[in-house]
Amino acid sequence: MTDELHKQDLEKFLAEKQLNDHWKKWVRTNLDAGCDKNGMFRIMIDEGFSYEVAKAALNFEPAIPVDQIINPLKRYKDARMRETASPFIPNAVRQNVEGFELYVLDDFLNEAECDALRRKVQREAPSTGIALKDENDPSFCTRNHDLGGIKDTLFQDVDRRICSVLGLSPKHAEPLQAQFYEAGQTFYPKRDFFEADDLIEKGGALGQRSYSFVIYLEETSVGGGLSFPEVDHSVPVKRGRAVIWNNLFPDGTVNDKAVHLCRPVEKGCGLILKKIFRTENGLPAFKRLDKENVPNYTTIGFERDRLPKPLLDKIMDFYRKNFHAQVPETVAERFIKNAKTDTAKSSLIQLPKSLEKEIQACLKPVLEIWSGLKLEPTFVYGIRVYHHGTALKVHRDRNGTHIIGVIINIDQEVTDPWPLRIEDNYYRKHDIFLEPGDVIYYEATRLAHGRPQPFNGKLYTNIFSHFKIADKS
Ligand SMILES: [Fe+2]
Repeated sequence: MTDELHKQDLEKFLAEKQLNDHWKKWVRTNLDAGCDKNGMFRIMIDEGFSYEVAKAALNFEPAIPVDQIINPLKRYKDARMRETASPFIPNAVRQNVEGFELYVLDDFLNEAECDALRRKVQREAPSTGIALKDENDPSFCTRNHDLGGIKDTLFQDVDRRICSVLGLSPKHAEPLQAQFYEAGQTFYPKRDFFEADDLIEKGGALGQRSYSFVIYLEETSVGGGLSFPEVDHSVPVKRGRAVIWNNLFPDGTVNDKAVHLCRPVEKGCGLILKKIFRTENGLPAFKRLDKENVPNYTTIGFERDRLPKPLLDKIMDFYRKNFHAQVPETVAERFIKNAKTDTAKSSLIQLPKSLEKEIQACLKPVLEIWSGLKLEPTFVYGIRVYHHGTALKVHRDRNGTHIIGVIINIDQEVTDPWPLRIEDNYYRKHDIFLEPGDVIYYEATRLAHGRPQPFNGKLYTNIFSHFKIADKS
């Protein structure tokens, strides 16, 4: 038995990858250079050395599980691949600052949202606030409130919108916070990212801090606002404005230019919301559909209008005369759903080509002015008649041929008004109630839209028209 154990140990020893001279030199050189032992440990494990061999070679054992340590070599390799992948943030303006990713996004929140948030923060949060105070300097003081634990639809919706507009995963983020600044208060220059010593302790499974997202909720009359002294750049307070920056370089290492301070509030009260994102495998955790990276061509993303009366009359005349000719419609990928399986979800009345062309010709010049694009019509779809109980899945239209879309409502017999749910370019959700003759222009590939609420009524009739960006030739 003992011989058998020795034999197994010997086989295990022979099977284990051992340090050769090359690796011994690598260990010595990197230890002499003061390299992070956690990172070295992870590199050795990834190169096939056992835990025991790495531990003996470095005379060190990590305080956290090895799979939570980032391999610095892989991090650099991934970063090179993603070096150009700075986020697309609709309507944001990247600031002209060298070597530092800093954006200003005006009107992320509107006046009504700022008012509602301020009231809720003041009502919900003060009792849980933590004063951050420097005893030696009474001007250094803010009250911090964690809003993440508060079950409130408005806080949750703003949190969702912050993640979506930046395209970062909410799973790799800290809770939303509110910070108050009274007159005369400020905070000294600080970094959001963790210093090397803190990273293991505070980073934990969530990793290093990547992007910071701050929203000014209160228009302070004098002072306040973020300043970035290392790059000599300030962003004045404007209500609803978001200031976004990356605390890291593209390779995942920390950027000292992200040092920031709050300019003293001289009059009034400052109130900001703040959310900090963490990394995934050492880099920002971007999670976004390709369609969301299609540029936005208008600020909001959609607009309501009326169809010119002569064209509406012509369509209505055709619709009445051909109402009996509707046939059940089949739509792929379960876009259109109905709890009842024995009834048609929707029907189709085929428009004549001449009327399709007239609709396109009428819409094209208006859409070109609205979008600032040279457009080419692709499809006219309909007339579609939705039936009772039907819902339209929230979706984004096809890229290329459906960049700009139009919905024309021509008829409805409803028990309850049936809203079109659409997100704007700030990821704010809207419910739009159309009347017959109303049209809505929208950035159909970029924006999520649908009618998720089952239709309560007899019929709801729409025509859809789609446009692509005209070829340059
Ligand atoms: Fe659609």
